[in-house]
Amino acid sequence: MLLADRFRDHAVAAEREGSALYVDWSLGLASDAEALRLVERAPEARRQPALVLAVCRWLGAPLEPWPVLRDWLLAHGDAFVAELGRRQTQVNDVRRLGPVSLALARLEGPIALLEIGASAGLCLLPDRFAFRASVRDPDGPGDERLRSLAWGDPDSPVAIDLHVDGPLPGRVELPPVVWRAGIDLDPVDVTDPAAVSWLETLLPPGPTERVELLRRAVAIARSAPPRIVRGDAVDALRDLAAGAPPEAQLVVVSTGTLVYLPGRRRQAFVDAVRALDARWVSYERRDLLHDVVAEVPDGLAPGADFAALALDGRAIGVGDAHGTRLRMLPV
Ligand SMILES: C[S@@+](CC[C@H](N)C(=O)[O-])C[C@H]1O[C@@H](n2cnc3c(N)ncnc32)[C@H](O)[C@@H]1O
Repeated sequence: MLLADRFRDHAVAAEREGSALYVDWSLGLASDAEALRLVERAPEARRQPALVLAVCRWLGAPLEPWPVLRDWLLAHGDAFVAELGRRQTQVNDVRRLGPVSLALARLEGPIALLEIGASAGLCLLPDRFAFRASVRDPDGPGDERLRSLAWGDPDSPVAIDLHVDGPLPGRVELPPVVWRAGIDLDPVDVTDPAAVSWLETLLPPGPTERVELLRRAVAIARSAPPRIVRGDAVDALRDLAAGAPPEAQLVVVSTGTLVYLPGRRRQAFVDAVRALDARWVSYERRDLLHDVVAEVPDGLAPGADFAALALDGRAIGVGDAHGTRLRMLPV
């Protein structure tokens, strides 16, 4: 896809997120050949619109309309390209745990969680958060077609809301988590204020709910930071998995990460997971893994089939990029 088109698509995503400034910046970049050429000086993998805009803010770009950003960008070209080359998209979005926790609830515990692309490790803490779902099941018995369902820790300051279409059990219960660890090329230390500030900068400016949710999740993680080893998802997997307690069911989790692995490495990851005695929960872009095929039901809102929720490589749901809307697939 052309870089200009990626920024145009990003404007649509920013609109959905309610970030007027990112809509303006994305459309500005999309139609400015000189600014696009600057972005193209960074390695291909770093030319992601969300990362580009976050790097501008990280380096102090004024939060002003596109013509002001354009002047700033052209004046800070070298510093911008260097920083873009150093950074990764590391958004740590606990909302993806909504779908993931529904897959975890299907497993026998106790479980040992191993997340690849863990960022700050916030998604390693599903048992520390509260989940509140509105469930719509047109085929359910009369009084269950619309209902609320809650699971996780009801007293948690982190409450994750989601909408689920389709059948769910009457009760959702997470298995006990007795071990947790992550792998990341560049782990984010939740006790380091600068690292957490980078996580906040990765969120679009505008609505503050996501920043608040992130801050609350970080506060919880700080009380017992999950262990995250620096390494590659494929290369470090087997050694880390070997440290999980044998009495627990090992569960490898990947959310919003496999898109950053080149195609062949993605397949190598799938093979490496399958070589372990482990279950595998993924919430990844739907068309990313040819082993994970999700039939998309009719009538979904735009973007509502972005990701596939899969258990052991079998799709059990499709949802939006953040995990806030999920459609369970028929079994
Ligand atoms: C978009 S973040 C997703 C974080 C988290 N899984 C979530 O859903 O909130 C992707 C993470 O994957 C990491 N990453 C990218 N390529 C990787 C690789 N080959 N091995 C391990 N981690 C990787 C990045 O550093 C980043 O922290």
